[in-house]
Amino acid sequence: MNRDVIIACDFKSAEDTFAFLDLFRGEERKPFLKIGMELYYAEGPSIVREIKRRGHRIFLDLKLHDIPNTVKKAMAVLSRLDVDMCNVHAAGTIEMMKAAREGLTREDGTRPLLIAVTQLTSTSEERMRRELLIGASIDETIVKYARNTKEAGLDGVVCSPLEAGMVHEACGAEFLTVTPGVRFADGDVADQVRVTTPARAREIGSDFIVVGRPITAASDPVAAYRRCVAEFLGASRSRPPAGKIAFHMKTVKFFYQRNCPFCRKAMRYIDEARAAHPELAAVTVEPIEETDEPEVADRFDYYYVPTFFVGGVKAHEGGILPDEVERVLRMALE
Ligand code: C5P
Repeated sequence: MNRDVIIACDFKSAEDTFAFLDLFRGEERKPFLKIGMELYYAEGPSIVREIKRRGHRIFLDLKLHDIPNTVKKAMAVLSRLDVDMCNVHAAGTIEMMKAAREGLTREDGTRPLLIAVTQLTSTSEERMRRELLIGASIDETIVKYARNTKEAGLDGVVCSPLEAGMVHEACGAEFLTVTPGVRFADGDVADQVRVTTPARAREIGSDFIVVGRPITAASDPVAAYRRCVAEFLGASRSRPPAGKIAFHMKTVKFFYQRNCPFCRKAMRYIDEARAAHPELAAVTVEPIEETDEPEVADRFDYYYVPTFFVGGVKAHEGGILPDEVERVLRMALE
């Protein structure tokens, strides 16, 4: 399946959901939608049928976790609902995930995509140790659960976009990563902690980004959706075929601080330059939050943020304008 943007329809009722979907009636591209527990439990299967009838693809995010036989039967019901993607908790074990896949598989051998939740982002390492008696780190747990998911024959996992590279490394490029926690560079982070932009999520290897409030709460949700698609898929469309260009391209290291307004502007200019110039979308920009990664920042000679190094050479230090960002990105192509 192709990479795509999935809108999280976190609405409380069918009425609110359809008022939102009506905004997209004129759109050629029918958005892929995520329906979660709140809406599904409020409205039941009829909302899934109605949204399917309108031509949208659906990720039904119910995170099943029970004994294998129960999960298998529940999955058979979801399969008949004709959803396009659904999920389980990887903590339910390989046996449960295999049962889910069997239940989901229709008589003709087809089935919706099936992915697993690894470790919920709300679970800290401290809680894992104290309450669940799991001594491994979060990253080790995520990789182990992803490997279990692959062994059970599922298609991928839900994870943070910042973990997508690690999961692909462990489970292969074909194994899907479905990633919430995406924000526009100039947007409000709200309650998400580890966020990244659509373009960066694509670079790190996300296959599907799940985006809620940056689209649903935007003053113009259709424009926000289009922007998200352009930033996320734009990078993929313009990625050069493996060969000369990709091989010789330099990496741009972007040193920033999370709370620095000039850095946030710089992020926005990067995304805008990429959206306006497809050849720049292929440039790899490696963001380095200097307070998170002091050992990396210490190896580079600069004082102010934002600072850009291209191929190891300082290209710009301090507040930056849009045309200067474009110049920096172009240096990576030289
Ligand atoms: O509004 P926002 O973009 O934060 O919505 C993200 C969606 O992804 C929500 O439906 C949220 O429940 C879901 N999600 C998440 N983090 C996870 C798993 C799911 O934000 N770890």
